[in-house]
Amino acid sequence: MTATPLPARRRTPLLALALDRESAISLQRQLYDQLREVILAGGLAPGSRLPSSRALAGELGCSRNTVVSAFDQLLSEGYLEGHAGSGTFVSRVLPEDLLGLAPASPHSGTPEDAEAPPLSSRGSQLIQLRRLQQGGERAFQPGLPETDDFPFDVWARLHSRIWRHPSGELLRLGAPAGLRELREAIARYLATFRGLACDWRQVIITAGAQQALDLVIQLLLEPGDKVWIEEPGYPGLRGPLIAAGAQPLPLPLDGEGLVVAEGRRRAGDARAAIVTPTHHYPLGTTLSLARRLELLDWARDSGAWILEDDYDSEYRYAGRPLASLLSLAAGRAEGARVIYIGSFSKVLFPSIRLGYLVVPENLVNPVSAAQGALGVQPTAVIQPVLAAFIEEGHFATHVRRMRRLYAARQAALVAAAQAHLSDFLEVAPDAAGLHLMGWLKPDIAERLGDRGAAAAAAKAGIAVAPLSDYYISDQPARQGLLLGYAAVPEDQIERGAERLAEALRTATGL
Ligand SMILES: Cc1ncc(COP(=O)(O)O)c(C=O)c1O
Repeated sequence: MTATPLPARRRTPLLALALDRESAISLQRQLYDQLREVILAGGLAPGSRLPSSRALAGELGCSRNTVVSAFDQLLSEGYLEGHAGSGTFVSRVLPEDLLGLAPASPHSGTPEDAEAPPLSSRGSQLIQLRRLQQGGERAFQPGLPETDDFPFDVWARLHSRIWRHPSGELLRLGAPAGLRELREAIARYLATFRGLACDWRQVIITAGAQQALDLVIQLLLEPGDKVWIEEPGYPGLRGPLIAAGAQPLPLPLDGEGLVVAEGRRRAGDARAAIVTPTHHYPLGTTLSLARRLELLDWARDSGAWILEDDYDSEYRYAGRPLASLLSLAAGRAEGARVIYIGSFSKVLFPSIRLGYLVVPENLVNPVSAAQGALGVQPTAVIQPVLAAFIEEGHFATHVRRMRRLYAARQAALVAAAQAHLSDFLEVAPDAAGLHLMGWLKPDIAERLGDRGAAAAAAKAGIAVAPLSDYYISDQPARQGLLLGYAAVPEDQIERGAERLAEALRTATGL
């Protein structure tokens, strides 16, 4: 779109747009709401032309993506019309006209404000889960990989090579377990880089780790079944457990990882355990070999399932990861009880929504059938692109580059924390991962707590996650902040640490 100046008369309402960076509402949402209000209030007449996304982004001081996403939503809802090559226009017939509704008053509230109807008890629990959203500030939001360096040119080339003339096969509803080429590519990748041998048929493609978990839980557990989970742990696991009516049983960790003996004592009859043995999320502990064997023994004795979430094993900066539980159990009777879960959210980017399961041979057909029955197989649009990305070596190159970048960023964060944050936090290096734990010094924990510290940081434009948010039963014995560094350039790491220190100093008066 080229920037066409608007007649002054129509430009006024747009100039009145203002984005609030302090607000919890995303910039895209704010822009969408304001544009919709202006259109409904008649401030932009039907048929009038909007400025280009580039010009509007410049005027508002936000990224062009923010404007494009707001425009896209208004286009898809019928408030705007796009004419290829000639710009974006206010629709001549608005959705409200079509539905015979009076235009909503600009102050009547958004649909999100509307009161919910009575929900099922599972529904009520689901909507109370705090979803960890990613947006806004990069320093020091946990869970975000660097995406500026992603080889989008290569990705786009592969995409257009495959989709310019897609095979008929790709356009039909394929096997629910996913595209064969991608399953083969993942099986080869796991054998080469993770030392994990499996037949490609055991690899089932899912829409991320969360959906992978949802699928196996629905297939294997009865409502009311107990499931061991790590405390603290990844909140994304709780939704699938609630949806299946399972009972999560949070278990503590010590220096060797999950305390299996505690699980046996409190609920030896649990039907499954969900664990992050390679690199515990969020504490970073590695499950010791002795504990791995204890866990496998328990699964064998009780007939329980082990769901091994190996979400970030690509990003290890020192030493080699221990063999996965799945490889450790291979060839033993308990091998048939380990299900391995992988995700592309951290290794590529979170919105890709692709992950996979490696299931025992006797679960291949049931898991595929359940995936088909639920109608949740991931779109075929990206699967062949990712398969080619892996097979042609781009994936391995990307991981190698990111590993070097993240190791340097982690070192920069440790140095910046020593220089600026030592009155408030203890930050030690970690051999793996995309974030570090910043442990609150006792007086900071007492005065602010980790939630108070995170709130003070947010006011200063720094996003950190309080460790307390990763607990469901208890409060942490030791409070801390998750400091994501992978997506933060080194110069911003230093600046971010200074701003965080300033925010904590102001909030504590120290
Ligand atoms: C422990 C853990 N497991 C899995 C995932 C990835 O889940 P998904 O593939 O559903 O994005 C994450 C992402 O943050 C995580 O922290």
